[in-house]
Parts: sequence; structure tokens; C-alpha cells
Amino acid sequence: MPQQFSQELRRVRPNSREDAVVAVAREHFERTLVTVGGSPVGSVAALVHPRLGESANYGEVFLRDNVPVMLYLLLQGRFPIVRHFLEVCLELQSNTYQTRGVFPTSFVEEGGILVADYGQRSIGRITSVDASLWWPVLCWLYVKRSRDHSFGTSQVVQRGLQLLLDLVLHPSFEGTPVLFVPDCAFMIDRPMDVWGAPLEIEVLLFGCLRSCCHLMELAQRENESRLLEQRLSLTRQWQHDLRSYLLKHYWVTSKTVQVLRRRPTEQYGDHQHQNEFNVQPQVIPPWLQDWLENRGGYLIGNMRTGRPDFRFFSLGNSLACLFGLLTAPQQRALFRLVLHNREHLMAQMPMRICHPPLDQEEWRSRTGSDPKNWPGSYHNGGHWPSLLWFLGAAILLHQQRHPNADVLLMGQMHSLLEECYWSQLNQLPRQQWAEYFDGPTGAWVGQQSRTYQTWTVVGFLLLHHLLRLNPGDASLLDLEHGGG
Ligand code: GLC
Repeated sequence: MPQQFSQELRRVRPNSREDAVVAVAREHFERTLVTVGGSPVGSVAALVHPRLGESANYGEVFLRDNVPVMLYLLLQGRFPIVRHFLEVCLELQSNTYQTRGVFPTSFVEEGGILVADYGQRSIGRITSVDASLWWPVLCWLYVKRSRDHSFGTSQVVQRGLQLLLDLVLHPSFEGTPVLFVPDCAFMIDRPMDVWGAPLEIEVLLFGCLRSCCHLMELAQRENESRLLEQRLSLTRQWQHDLRSYLLKHYWVTSKTVQVLRRRPTEQYGDHQHQNEFNVQPQVIPPWLQDWLENRGGYLIGNMRTGRPDFRFFSLGNSLACLFGLLTAPQQRALFRLVLHNREHLMAQMPMRICHPPLDQEEWRSRTGSDPKNWPGSYHNGGHWPSLLWFLGAAILLHQQRHPNADVLLMGQMHSLLEECYWSQLNQLPRQQWAEYFDGPTGAWVGQQSRTYQTWTVVGFLLLHHLLRLNPGDASLLDLEHGGG
């Protein structure tokens, strides 16, 4: 565990070159945009290194990397690019029997032909589930912002939604509302023991179902159909059950842990509701005691029979605030936890992807000795600048929604955010907008980090937009309100 480091070492000082840095970031961003069929469609994952002239193998358009890109374009009113992106993804939605409804992880135009990767071209043949879950969210946000209702209600969009929903709304052996996925199914796309029901996937599923409901409601208003009404009520129910499930089994505070530790085990039959997953008190890790302190709370990484995963994952928790899965008091408990554990989560380069990292022995057995996910590196506790703006948007959205709630805490969160922003502004240009940073404080550029990584650049620009240009735009990712 890292020790406190001194204030002088934090790179949080204001910088008079703010405007120049933002202007350079904007230039980099424009260079990431590529075309399909002659018109702009989205961004490649990383740019060619300007000095070495080496081509990055991140030259494909990844769906997940384009989430912040599309949101940034929406803020700028560049709607045709976003619509084109959504259309190309829809065109690539799988039609083959075994994967029908799945959206690709990434695509690229080669010699005028679109080539998509659904996992079959990736290292280790991974299946990305998050890409498919993000598509309806982006589609809804586009329709809401641009007011392009005719796209939202069009037959191709509504058909795409139904194909996707077919992958979720069906009976299963478990009979629970969570989606079961293999290891590597989301941003963490190398082995990290995140199979089963990892938080990020389940929160995205919640956002996906919510967005599908908004889009189906639009269509229903235009053209009422009984079939659609049935789909709507099933989707609403699923979303409701999923939220209750996550709040019941994933949300922990100091109080809930004390209850967990004293629950009966080995129950069956009618009594098993006290400890559904037969969790033994010995699996509760000691680091939770200080991590949670008195008033902190967060959603744990995964729930599996006998083996909850208590690791903290930043993106899933930030999205749970933005999508309105967590209640307002829970969001503030999460903010308290972030503040309390700032040395771990922010340190020299905000923000860390997960905490704590798997240690050497766990790394060997649980990642299969994956060389990139070495303890404290990459997905295994590395620091990813692209993640900061999600938490930033969650803090700002909370402040707007509840301006009078715990003013002291929210003031501290705002200062934390400002300092993290300066920390990125001071370091990212020097570190060539690196993809990730390593080590307990995140002071070192990731050992195999790409440079000029698109979501590092655009994540910074989004944070700049929210802090300096229009904090009201934090509601961009707000899925609570329908209406279009
Ligand atoms: C890495 C990341 C993944 C990202 C991709 C492109 O594989 O783990 O999340 O989408 O790079 O940037």
C-alpha cells in the first residue's frame, strides 16, 4: 500500500498555459477522426506517434473508445458524425445465428470494405459485451440531444434494439436479472478474473435497458403496438429487478460489512435469504476496514457464490451515479470513499482503474501470468487518465441535482476535481497523452502504454468542457429523464 505522499509532490498546481494545452488537445483530437464511405465516422483508438513515426496498432474504431468521442461531438453539435457512427455500428450488428444482435468491438475500413471484429480477430478471442450495451445508450443520448426523433423511431433502430434485447430478456439457468459474461468482456479485456457478473457490465446493462425503454417509448408514442407494449413492460421490470439486485448484493458500507460478518452460513431452503451466496466471513478482506471508514460506501466488483470480489472498480461506480442507479445519499457515500482513499485512487495521475491490484501470487493464478496485467500495471491497478471525467461528471451532476446536500463534502469533491484536472493538464502533454500510468502512485508512464491515446485526449477535453465551459452539460449522460 502506498504511503501518504507530500503536497509538494502532487502535480496539482494551476498552470498559466491552460488555453494552449486545450488548443493542442483539440488539434490532436481532430486528427483522430477517420472516415467510412467518405464521411467522418469516429476516432481511431490512438494516433501514430509523431516523433517515432511508428504506426500504432490501435488504428481501428473501437466502440467503447468512441463513447467519450461521441459525447464530445454531441456537445459540439456535430450530429451527423454521431449519426453516421451509430448507423455503421448498426450495419455491423451481427446477423449470424450464434451471435445475432451483438455489436462489434471495433471496425476499420480496408480498401473500401468494412471489416469488423466481434472478438474473433483479437488476442485471446475475447467477447466484448460492453460495446453492445453502450450502443442503445449512445443512440438515446444522440436522439435526446439532436432531437432527431425520426432516427430513434426508425425501423432499423427499433429492430436493432429488439435484436439486442433478445440477448438479455430470456429465461436462464440462474433466473437472476444479471447478465453472465466471460472474463475480459469489457474495458478490462485481458484476464483479470472478472468473469460472471462484473460491476461494469451490470451497470451498463442497467443503462442499456433504460435507454431501450426511452427509445421504445418514443416509437410507441408515434405508433402504438401491443407487441411493443409487452416488450416495454418486460424491459422496465427487468431494469427494476436488476437495480434492486445490485443494490442488495453489491452495495457495501461499514454497517453492511458488519452484518455480513455475522450472518449464518450453510443455509438452505426457506432460510437461505440471509446469505444467498453462502459467503463465509473469512473472505471479507481486512483492507475494507480502513477503506470504508465510517461513512463511505461503494458497489463491489462482482458477486459469485461464496466468492464476492471486493475490488473497487472506478468506471462501474461512476456510471452507477451518472445513470441514477445509486440513490443520492449512496452517491455521497461513494464520494466520501473516494476522498478518503484519494492516495490510492488519484495519487499522481487520476484515476486508478481498480483497487487493490491482484498481488503477485494472485496475478500468477488468476490472470494466467498475463504480462501486461502485472501488479500495479495496466488493468491491474494502473492509472487511466480517461476515467477521470466520468467521476467528474458524476460529481457535477450531483451538485446540480442536489445543490443543498452536504455542501461541505461537495465543496471538497469540487476541489479534488480541480486538483485532478490540473494534475492531468500539467502532465499529459509532457507524457504525450499516454494511455495509462503504472505503479502505486501512477507517476510512471505505463510500461507498454500507447501515446496520443484518443480517450485520454478527449476525456481531458470533456473535463475541461464541464469545468470551464458548461457545467450544465454534466446532464448529458443523465438517463433518468425520458421525453427526448
Ligand atoms: C485496450 C484496452 C481496451 C481498449 C483498447 C483500445 O485493449 O484494454 O479497453 O478499448 O485497448 O484502446
